[in-house]
Amino acid sequence: MKILGIETSCDETSAAVVSGGKRILSNVISSQVDIHRRFGGVVPEIASRAHLESIESIVDIAIQSAGIRIADIDGVAVTRGPGLIGALLVGISFAEAFAESINKPLAGVNHLHAHVYANLLSEDSLKMPFIWLIVSGGHTLLGISRDIGEYELLGTTVDDAAGEAFDKVSKLLGLGYPGGPAIQKVAAGGNPLFINFPRAKVKRNPYFFSFSGLKTAVLYYIKENEKSGLDIPSIAASFQEAVVDVLVSRTIEASVKYGINRVVLGGGVACNSRLREKFSADCGKNSIELFIPPFDLCTDNAAMVAGLGFEIINRGLNAGFHADPNLKI
Ligand code: KG4
Ligand code: ZN
Repeated sequence: MKILGIETSCDETSAAVVSGGKRILSNVISSQVDIHRRFGGVVPEIASRAHLESIESIVDIAIQSAGIRIADIDGVAVTRGPGLIGALLVGISFAEAFAESINKPLAGVNHLHAHVYANLLSEDSLKMPFIWLIVSGGHTLLGISRDIGEYELLGTTVDDAAGEAFDKVSKLLGLGYPGGPAIQKVAAGGNPLFINFPRAKVKRNPYFFSFSGLKTAVLYYIKENEKSGLDIPSIAASFQEAVVDVLVSRTIEASVKYGINRVVLGGGVACNSRLREKFSADCGKNSIELFIPPFDLCTDNAAMVAGLGFEIINRGLNAGFHADPNLKI
């Protein structure tokens, strides 16, 4: 069964063809990052227009590079949320019309579930249950899946998402947008032990996250020390270390507490090299199996949408595809 996946929830226009929920025949991703960079973040209305301009050609390229014909497509899957409402509507309207024109089923996919599914797409040996950590520009979510379509949320952020913290601190340090890759690059030349930034805990819930105090601590550090000169690489490295420490330790605590010795990651922040390095070292120490998708399956992509869409259509998990910008896990 070949599913055409479409993803337009934020600033990537992506289309993919996935066979049997596993084999990626194509995964075309057109990033708008160069359009939004000069504004220092994603501008929703500009994102919608850019999706509208490129969606048709991106879908064409995905079908062509998969080496199939339109008649070979058995179903269509599209991200229905969470995301920017205008951006979601471009993908959903296109997918709806496309599925109708070929008379094939349409599956609406939760973008966060798709980030979890990216692990099943890239790793044949992965079994359930597993603990997942989804860390992106908009979300920080920790939970457990015991089966496809089943998501138990253990914790989320009470303020900024992990990626949002990278983006905001990058702005404070004058490193540009998107912040994650910029901070990672500069941090490589710095000392992560230079400043002991706070690792916040949230009262009453051991699996919740809070990053806004960390961002404020960086701001105060800059204000107090800018006259005497700032060691930007070491500030970046110390900030990155604080975020990584919190994400890794809380995930491992959950794995140990629930007795589930498999951890999977997803979302743009899972591209971070220090996060990958610390996760792999600490999972190793705790005999936890770690799965991290390749970079292009961590960031927003339509292959994860097509993969999960296959399961939804095949198992009859749900049929709703109306846009929901605030869809929860
Ligand atoms: O999953 P994603 O591509 O889009 C959303 O759904 O948000 O994640 C984008 C986020 C941005 O905040 C970006 O700064 C962050 O992922 N990011 C990183 C890295 N690459 C992307 N954060 C830390 N280190 C990276 N290497
Ligand atoms: Zn995402």
